[in-house]
Formats: sequence, C-alpha cells, structure tokens
Amino acid sequence: MSSVDEIKARLDIIDIVSENVQLRRTGKNYTGFCPFHPNTRTPAFVVFPETGTWRCFGQCNEGGDLINYVMKREGWDFPEALKHLADRAGVVLRPISPEEQGQKEEHERLRNLLEDAVAFFRHHLINTEAGKPALNYLHERNLSDKTIEEFELGYSPHSWDQAHTHFTEKGYTEKDLVDAGLVTQRDSGGIYDRFRNRLMFPIRNYQGKMAGFGARALAPDDVPKYLNSPQTPIFDKSNLLYGLDKSRKGIRADDQVVIVEGYMDVIATNQAGFKNLVASMGTALTEEQLRQLKRLTRKIILAMDSDAAGVNATLRGLQVARNTLDRESELTFDARGLLRNEARLNADIRVSTLPEGLDPDEIVNENPEEWAKLIASAKPVVVHVMETLAASQDLSDPKAKTEVADQVMPLIQDVPSLIERDTYRQQLARLLKVDESTLVSSYQQPVQKRRRPGRRAKNPVDQSAEPVSKIPEKSPLNEIEAMAVGMILRKPENLYRVDRALIQSGLSRISSKDFMHTNHQEIISLIITSLDQDTIEPQNYVIEQMPIDLADYADDLLQKTQKLVPQEERILSEIFRNILRLRENVLRDMLNQYRFQLEDEQENNSGLNDDLMQEINKVNQQILKINKAFNDRTLFSNRPDPE
Ligand code: UTP
Ligand code: MN
Repeated sequence: MSSVDEIKARLDIIDIVSENVQLRRTGKNYTGFCPFHPNTRTPAFVVFPETGTWRCFGQCNEGGDLINYVMKREGWDFPEALKHLADRAGVVLRPISPEEQGQKEEHERLRNLLEDAVAFFRHHLINTEAGKPALNYLHERNLSDKTIEEFELGYSPHSWDQAHTHFTEKGYTEKDLVDAGLVTQRDSGGIYDRFRNRLMFPIRNYQGKMAGFGARALAPDDVPKYLNSPQTPIFDKSNLLYGLDKSRKGIRADDQVVIVEGYMDVIATNQAGFKNLVASMGTALTEEQLRQLKRLTRKIILAMDSDAAGVNATLRGLQVARNTLDRESELTFDARGLLRNEARLNADIRVSTLPEGLDPDEIVNENPEEWAKLIASAKPVVVHVMETLAASQDLSDPKAKTEVADQVMPLIQDVPSLIERDTYRQQLARLLKVDESTLVSSYQQPVQKRRRPGRRAKNPVDQSAEPVSKIPEKSPLNEIEAMAVGMILRKPENLYRVDRALIQSGLSRISSKDFMHTNHQEIISLIITSLDQDTIEPQNYVIEQMPIDLADYADDLLQKTQKLVPQEERILSEIFRNILRLRENVLRDMLNQYRFQLEDEQENNSGLNDDLMQEINKVNQQILKINKAFNDRTLFSNRPDPE
C-alpha cells in the first residue's frame, strides 16, 4: 500500500471535512455548503464516504480526495499535506513509533561519523608521511590533485587501532564505529580497524549522503583487492551506485548514463571530461539502481568487459535465465533480466563491450576519443546478444544458424515494442542470411505459448487484443483514472492528441480536475507543465520533477499500463474513453445531487426550482455530448492489431 492509500485508509474524510463544513446526510452521501466558494443558498458540496472523495457541484465544479481537500483548505502543497496527514494518521491509529524516530536519528549519527571519517582518511593521504606512497600511487595512475580532492579520496593508516582511537576520542561509541562499518568486532570481543593501509573511496548515495567506503589494497599481497564497507543500516550495495551524487548533472546534461564496474573507472573518465558515469561496485545491476538512474535519463549504457559480456558469459546467461528467470548473479550477462527491466522501466538499455583486457580507466588514459567512440557504438541488448553469438559461429553452417536463432528469437519475442521486434527480426534474418518469414513462422507459435506461462488462452488469435479490452466497463473509478493517467505518463504527448479529440467533440481539454485522486491530479498537472516547457524532453521533465512521495506510485502506473498493446491509436482512444467515463460519472452524481435539492426546494418552496431545472437540463445535454463522443468512430482509427 502506498503512503497515500494508507493515509486514506486510516483517516475518515467525513471527520476531516466536518472540521470546517457542517455536513448533513443525504442518502448515502453527505452535503453541505462549499467552503471554497462564497455561497449560503445551495448546499452544492458533496462528500462521498464510499469512495472517500468530495465534489463541489456549484461554482467550483471541482473535486478530489482527502489529501487535496486539506491542500486546498490549508493552502499547502502536496508534500506538506501528506506530511501533516501522515503524522495525523499515525497519531490517531498508531502512535509514532519511537523506534522509527530513533532509527532516523541513528542513521544521521552514522552518516556524521562517516563524514568525519572522510576527513580523517583525507588528512592521512594529504598531510602525513605515511600517506605519501598512496598519494604517489594516485599520481602514477594519472589522477590530478583536483580530481583527488573532488572525489574525496583518502588513505587509511597502516594500523589496527588508529581510527578506533581517533573516533572514540572524538566521542563516538564503539557501537557507532561497528555500526558504521569502520571497525570490526572479533568473536572474542576485540575490536580492530577494518580499513588498514588502503586507498579510501567515499561512497555516497544519490543525494550525496555518506553511505560507506570502498577501499583498495596498496600492498600487492593484501586481499581482497577491494574491501567495501560491510552491509550496515546505511550501506547496501544493491541500492547504491558509486559516483551518482557527482554524475547527476552530467547524466542529465548528456541524457545518458554509462555504468562501469570500478571506482577508478568512474574517476578517470570523469577527469577526462566524461561526467556521466557510475559504478555498480561488482554486483549485478538491481531494479532499484535502474530506477534511480531512470529519474535522470532513459538511456542506460552498460560498459562491460569481455569476460562479462563476451560469448561465453552471454550464452551462460541465456541458459541460466531460461531456467530461473529471477536469478540475479554476478558475471553473467542476464539478457532477459535486462530486457525485463528495460520494459518495466520504459528505459533504453544498451551494451558496450570493452576491448579485451582493458578497463575504461586505461582506455580513457590512452585516448579519450576511443572511449567516446566505444560508448557511441553501444548496442541494444538483443543486438548485442545476436552479434556476440553470431561472431562466435561459422554462419555458413546451417546448424549454427539454427542455434543462434534458437537463442535469439525468444528474446526478440520478449521485446514489448512491436516496431523494435520487427526491426530485430529483420536484423537477425540479415545476419543469418535467411528469409525473415521462415524465421517468423518457425518461432511464432512456441514462443507465444511461452510468453504467458500458466495462462491458457481459449483462442490464441485473440491474445493480442486482450489487454486493452480487459479494462472493464464498470471498474472502480480509481482504476479508470489510474489507467488513463498511466497511459499518458508513458508518453506525455498522448495528452495533446487526446485533447485534440476532446476539443473536436466540443469538450474541454484534460485537466487535473478530471481526476479525484490527488496522486493522479498531481501527476497530470506535472505532465501538463512538462508539455508547456521546451528545455527538456517532457518525459524526462516529469521523471525529474516527480515528488519523491509519488515516484513509486508513478512507477506502479507505468507497470500497470506496460502490457497494453503498443498500438498508438488504440491507446489514445482508450485514454479518451476513460476521460469520458470519468466525466460522465461526475455529471451523473451532479444530477443526483440536483434531484435531492429539487426535493428540498419543493418542500421549502423557496423559488429556486427554475434555476435548478435549468442546471439539470445543462447537465443532461453535457451527458449526451459525452455519449456521442464516446461512440464517435471517426476520432481514432480502430484498425485491428496486425499481429
Ligand atoms: P577490478 O578488479 O576490475 O578493479 O574490480 P579495478 O576497478 O580495475 O581496480 P584497479 O584499476 O585495479 O584499481 C572492479 C570493481 O569490482 C569491485 C570494486 O567495486 C571494483 O572497483 N571489487 C573488485 C570488489 O568489490 N572487490 C574485489 O576484491 C575486487
Ligand atoms: Mn582497473
């Protein structure tokens, strides 16, 4: 459950609204005078307890849920309102846990300790005799003093207790030191410095907050070569990317990120002017890491050495992934996993294989242009697999052709975009020098079955049409909103095209007022703003500006709408229809409301009947217009899916 849903589940909208509006029960809903426009005659403000929403059917003609009610009432923005209501929900239903508060404070303390440690190691590198060899080593590796400073590199003294003594004297407890991963506790209870005689690389999270250290051995016999902080409350390798705090700007500017393996690679390339690199620190890429990158760019390039992306690794990866789809492992090139993440995150993941035996660090030191070329030649995952396998086979042998096709075709079938899929098929056909139609006919059937495990389609021909029409006519309103917003979020430009159809039908453009749920209102407002600016691509603008509290929700929406048939016209028509459904629903509620009022008026005989009748007429006309637009087949061409 998202925090927004949790708040809504815990707080009663009637309670909150009743704080400043006198509500009266009318049927299953509650009515009162709208607090947002001056008015004392008609109680046009309705709260719907069933859906947890409200609406003013009078002058405002606006509605929403609990959260935007509070936003409007207090003049707060979304994060402010959320914070207030979350606190409140916590106080009412679950006292704020002291553990949570304590945990936050503890993390803060550990981060402060690590900041002190950065300074401590830096001091030993720059100012001490013992640090000289380390500094020389860095210079030998061609790093300038400016770079060394920028990346806050340091040196951990050759001692079992120097750090321990230093920090306990500064007032830190041994527990702090253990928790921060700076010292290690023996089973026997003894304590010793974890990092000794090593080059220290501070690792910060994407916000620049200290998380831990990577430490390279200087003595040739020291193992491991790189020793990282242990897993601590603030150091989790699977959600950190080395260098992301410093590369954010460059990634955004280049609209592309390159992922490499090593700390030194990030630093050396950075010094050479490539400011868009991060390092994965020797583990397989996780979805969380990709998500952090996706907020900055869609274009993600993996620069992998040939051990990791060469033919053996690729083949091994394909075999493994075939058996256990969710396996995440080091050193195998998991094409399926990458493709899955690519689709789920709507990213563009490419692979660049490094020349054998060379690290980015070495390449860039030799010739920076070589690095630029290498990155420019990155290939989409499927193409990488195709070419890597093909290069290792004698393709004049028909058996070899079949083998390559056997490996690659299932991957191609997993690509969600129809156009990409076609392109890859053509590419494969060209590469293998076979007829494309042979390729298609020999792989189409079994692959389709494999794509939907555990689900048997009654009629395979219907399969491709299934997802879009699966949106049930009478799904809860929230679902209709979510689908519409999700489909627009996937491609903000969709909003323009649907707006055009709305205007053509004599209706108003999409606005946040079409949605009741604050999440949806916020996301739609953001999308509208993104289309109004022209400095960044709208999609990137949206990702970048997405409030942190909404990011997960937005990802859910993207995931929810990912399976839809990638046919533009169908998607547009579906968004259009969802908007109409929502509007019709509002109008029907409005009619109901007027009927209640009419009954009241007739009882009191207050002479408002005519006005009300006029309003009811207007609403009815509007409903007719919407129905007409809903059935207008000329707006979007609903050609059948070619697949
Ligand atoms: P490499 O062994 O390729 O190191 O490991 P490197 O970056 O080329 O180091 P230099 O150039 O010899 O100084 C790549 C990355 O894998 C992780 C580190 O994050 C390292 O940067 N690694 C490697 C470890 O965590 N532990 C190890 O023992 C080795
Ligand atoms: Mn290296």
